[in-house]
Amino acid sequence: MSEPIHVLILAAGLGTRMKSDLAKVRHRLGGRTLLAHVLRSAAALDPASIIVVVGHQAEAVESDARAALADTPLAGRLRFALQAEQRGTGHAVMSARNEFAGADGSLLVLYGDVPLVRPSTLQRLTDAHTKGGHSATLLTTELDDPHGYGRIIRDAHGQFLRIVEEKDCSPDERAINEINPGFYCFRIAELTAALDRLTTANAQGEYYLTDAPELIARDGGGIGTLLHRDAAELNGINTRAELAAAWKRLRREILDRLMNEGVTIEDPDSTYIDDGVEIGRDTVIHPQVIIEGRSRIGAGCEIHSWSRLVNADIGDECRVLNGCVIVDSRLEGKNSAGPYAHLRMGANLAPEAVVGNFVEVKKSRLGRRTKSMHLTYLGDATLGDRVNIGAGTVTCNYDGKRKHETHIEDDVKIGSDTMLVAPVRVGRGSVSGAGSVIIEDVPPDSLVAGVPARVKKKLKQKAEGAQ
Ligand code: UD1
Ligand code: CA
Repeated sequence: MSEPIHVLILAAGLGTRMKSDLAKVRHRLGGRTLLAHVLRSAAALDPASIIVVVGHQAEAVESDARAALADTPLAGRLRFALQAEQRGTGHAVMSARNEFAGADGSLLVLYGDVPLVRPSTLQRLTDAHTKGGHSATLLTTELDDPHGYGRIIRDAHGQFLRIVEEKDCSPDERAINEINPGFYCFRIAELTAALDRLTTANAQGEYYLTDAPELIARDGGGIGTLLHRDAAELNGINTRAELAAAWKRLRREILDRLMNEGVTIEDPDSTYIDDGVEIGRDTVIHPQVIIEGRSRIGAGCEIHSWSRLVNADIGDECRVLNGCVIVDSRLEGKNSAGPYAHLRMGANLAPEAVVGNFVEVKKSRLGRRTKSMHLTYLGDATLGDRVNIGAGTVTCNYDGKRKHETHIEDDVKIGSDTMLVAPVRVGRGSVSGAGSVIIEDVPPDSLVAGVPARVKKKLKQKAEGAQ
């Protein structure tokens, strides 16, 4: 049984180079915060605990972290340490000392601004650390342009000596391409001893965590290094340009995964799908589609160009035609929407329901095979099965103060340009004439027309469920 691994994530900094009012680790990448990406990779190792060091916008960063691990086994093993003043990465670790000092095992230290690291890479680092019996083990990588990163200094035999920050480098050191991407595994006892001896004697006047390996080595501790070839995976985000570059890489990874799972992505270069979106087999995503948040799309669907789906739950065999916006809404299966439909705030289409051109559906449910094909607003409405809504229909749901509901029962036919002044109910099997303004409930099987609408005649009742 190997010794326990604890994780420490540094996330207290503001991120000056982002030029932002938002703490850097709160910036979003593919639908998650930078910190959430790091947390998810760390959580995949099933560590004994995860400690996040917070400082700038501490409360918000803390709640981001909790949200990222909510409903996972790690939720109960997540703890926080406050670094009230940001005096460097070493100082951040010192601020969390009470959370890990005295614990058995090792501490995997990560930075909250390095979001693309894979769990398998972290696992390789902790494995190398444990198997090598090192006091500390560092990931390293090589960059053509190492600017901005700490350099790895080795002796003539290739033995690790120390890390030197860019700002503290001599010209010779600056020419070194092997860098510190900021992934460390420390035996807790050795790290704790080294923390006491960190100083601020450097160009930035900060406590550098990067000095800890050298101090440990000087005490006779073994330092392992593991060269990681895929440098882009370890890129830190310090600027908006780096954020965009990371999104480009992550986006391609997401699309490759979906294609491997049997999704057709016609033009990966113009398709934007957030991390965590699920899409079923044989679904076709046409060019220039954006799918965000916790969206889930079933099998055999077609999502056409210029549509944006946010937290959309799309069942099997649905067609989302060009230019639709679907937010927090659900298509249960075999639906068609658009072109240019807007579904939002809990719009829900039962199987085979259809909404067409320039139809907005808000907080409403359309029953089975119900159709609203043109130029319509349905808000706070419940429509039964096999209802047909004529062009230009509006549920007048707002009286200037409050929202009211509209109920349209099964097999109703609403004529073009009908205004339904809510609260109002149209009984099953009824029909409204074109241009009706319905201000009071319509009994079943009635033809209404006019302004305000009146019952003109009773209709013959149909057999149950007939078309
Ligand atoms: C750091 C490393 C550098 C490495 C690079 C890799 C140090 C001294 N330098 O530099 O060797 O090549 O990362 O990406 O560690 N943070 C705090 N409290 C602080 C300062 C920072 O929590 O007082 C957090 C930040 O929120 C951030 C992380 O630590 O998430 C890294 O800090 P940052 O200032 O970005 O370090 P780099 O200059 O990139
Ligand atoms: Ca950084």
